[in-house]
Amino acid sequence: EDRKDSKVIRILELVADYYHNALKKSPHAVDYLKSRGVSSRSIQKFRLGFSPSSEELVNFLRKEGLIDAYEKTGNLVKIDEGIYRDLFTGRVVIPIRDERGRCIAFGGRVLYEGKPKYINSPESEFFKKREVMFGLYEGKEHIKDMGFAIIVEGYFDVISMHDEGYKNTVAPLGTSFGEEHAKLLSRYTKDVILLFDGDSAGKRAIRQTAPYLLSQDIKVRVAYLPEGEDPDTLVKRDKELLRLLLEGAKDIFELFIKMLREGQKEALKDLVYFAGFVKNKVYQHDILREASQVSGFALSALYDQLPKVQRKEE
Ligand code: GTP
Ligand code: MN
Ligand code: MN
Ligand code: MN
Ligand code: MN
Repeated sequence: EDRKDSKVIRILELVADYYHNALKKSPHAVDYLKSRGVSSRSIQKFRLGFSPSSEELVNFLRKEGLIDAYEKTGNLVKIDEGIYRDLFTGRVVIPIRDERGRCIAFGGRVLYEGKPKYINSPESEFFKKREVMFGLYEGKEHIKDMGFAIIVEGYFDVISMHDEGYKNTVAPLGTSFGEEHAKLLSRYTKDVILLFDGDSAGKRAIRQTAPYLLSQDIKVRVAYLPEGEDPDTLVKRDKELLRLLLEGAKDIFELFIKMLREGQKEALKDLVYFAGFVKNKVYQHDILREASQVSGFALSALYDQLPKVQRKEE
């Protein structure tokens, strides 16, 4: 990597420290985090911060002689001569790290209610949202040790899951889960559990995410959260229920077979659709054979559906 990047990353690290220290002096922000049950341990571990005002950050950067350099990240916007706006003003700041632990961007959440709820650093040469997973740096060794990863939707889902012992949890950065995420994860595990929000967006996300994982030879298990719940709220409200849901997480194809057995005929179309992404042809054959047996459709008819499905996605 070039020296310009490493200088910017050094500055981001300094700014992360600044935000982290500012949080300690901002009772309102600390109260917000406490109100949603974020532990001091999590605040330390993820080096959570707060941006009290643009002016304070600018004063800090001026003392270090880093205003111009930091402006290039897009996190600080020049409004007029000597006047800047910190994008994260008034927000809890979440440092986003690459796999090696280097701070490459920030996420920011409003305290309580407000719009937009979250913002992220703009994309740059070294920050490509699609190539980063929140929690991967902190979780990668646990993913290897435990043999699987848990994918959740949000920053605070990752933070709370790690805090409650599920340190193999990661999330994309608000963007939907894509090919780059699947490639990144496949270097650590071939088995994931999707633990998405118990709302319609969460259900859509399963459909959207599974093909990328299957294409990387990753086994996809699905755990369904109760309506209106996300991992952050559930792990705090009923850890035992979460444990049972994770333990009972079923392979996506097993779920479809079960639906077929229960007479839900439309599950066959979904099963064939997802089977189209499976790279291992022996495994794909096993899935289709079982689907054929359970549904009564000829195996050859199911195979006939596959190429169409794959073309559609390419
Ligand atoms: P909390 O209310 O803080 O618990 O947020 P959440 O993580 O439960 O939010 P939600 O389930 O709505 O969204 C999941 C993830 O999508 C968040 O963690 C963010 O990364 C992202 N996200 C949500 N809302 C916004 C938004 O308004 N703008 C952007 N850029 N990202 C968002
Ligand atoms: Mn939302
Ligand atoms: Mn949601
Ligand atoms: Mn959520
Ligand atoms: Mn949430």
